[in-house]
Amino acid sequence: MLQRPRRNRKSAAVRDLVRETNLSTDDFIFPLFLVSGSKKKIEVDSMPGIFRFSEDLMLKEIEECLKLGIKAFDVFPAYPEELKDSLATESYNPNTFYLKALKTIKQTFPEVCLMSDVAMDPYNSDGHDGIVKDGKILNDETLEILARMSLAQADAGVDILGPSDMMDGRVGFIREELDNAGFIDTSIMSYTAKYASSFYGPFRDALDSAPKFGDKKTYQMDPSNSREALIEADLDVNEGADYLMVKPALAYLDIIQLLSQNYDLPIAAYNVSGEYSMIKASAERGWIDGGSAMLESLLSIKRSGARIILTYFAKEFALMKS
Ligand code: PBG
Repeated sequence: MLQRPRRNRKSAAVRDLVRETNLSTDDFIFPLFLVSGSKKKIEVDSMPGIFRFSEDLMLKEIEECLKLGIKAFDVFPAYPEELKDSLATESYNPNTFYLKALKTIKQTFPEVCLMSDVAMDPYNSDGHDGIVKDGKILNDETLEILARMSLAQADAGVDILGPSDMMDGRVGFIREELDNAGFIDTSIMSYTAKYASSFYGPFRDALDSAPKFGDKKTYQMDPSNSREALIEADLDVNEGADYLMVKPALAYLDIIQLLSQNYDLPIAAYNVSGEYSMIKASAERGWIDGGSAMLESLLSIKRSGARIILTYFAKEFALMKS
């Protein structure tokens, strides 16, 4: 036998030498859930180890994460029902707790890379990512609201806006509004290929943001399709996106690979709530080793071509490595 592949696996030192993919805290954006008020740290039932923080305790959490080497955070707000309406007006109210917290985070820790979410669902009484009329989700009218919330978030000091709504034309629309207002350095990480997935369930629990009727299939992508991801990616590149994101990650590794082979912008993947909770739930039952399942799935996402991973495992990974 001339070829014995096992020779390159014979010891940990040799395996370290030939390893093609390495994970580091540099790779991660840590999603955080924000609630109004103070002194609140409430665990999300369907996401063990993940909390909804009020601003004061979120600042502590960020400080802890920074010490562990995590430098990028994506903050999502949970709004009470009484602040929601059909036009998501609270999303651009300059005094709303989300925008105030974003500003405080950026002022307290100017070195962090702060990302925010652009979509109507947390503030929309219909629970959809766009304006609802006669049971339909209106595209072009929604762009105006997305642009308003983008400007408000940019003004609060956010580094990267994350339009997660899947309306057509929103990246270009937002880019133009940002540029006109002088926010030329505010980046856009487009949710380029965001699929209508059942893996978002725990996130919608965390934010009480499930759609009040129907589903999101007229705007989020059909899990059966990959060619459509190329159409979306072409549009995003031409409309001025700085990053292309695939979401979810684990059931869509082929899409991550497709985009990373076809585009030169950095590719991000969102390892979503359901993907986190599946591992947590089976680890709690003793059915799998949670820590190594975490590492293996994060590795698979990076190996398939994602440069950036948004993951609820970011802190756990950092603690494991520290
Ligand atoms: C909202 C949004 C969702 C997620 C991120 N932004 C939910 C949805 O589209 O219903 C899901 C994230 C996760 O599951 O971790 N537009």
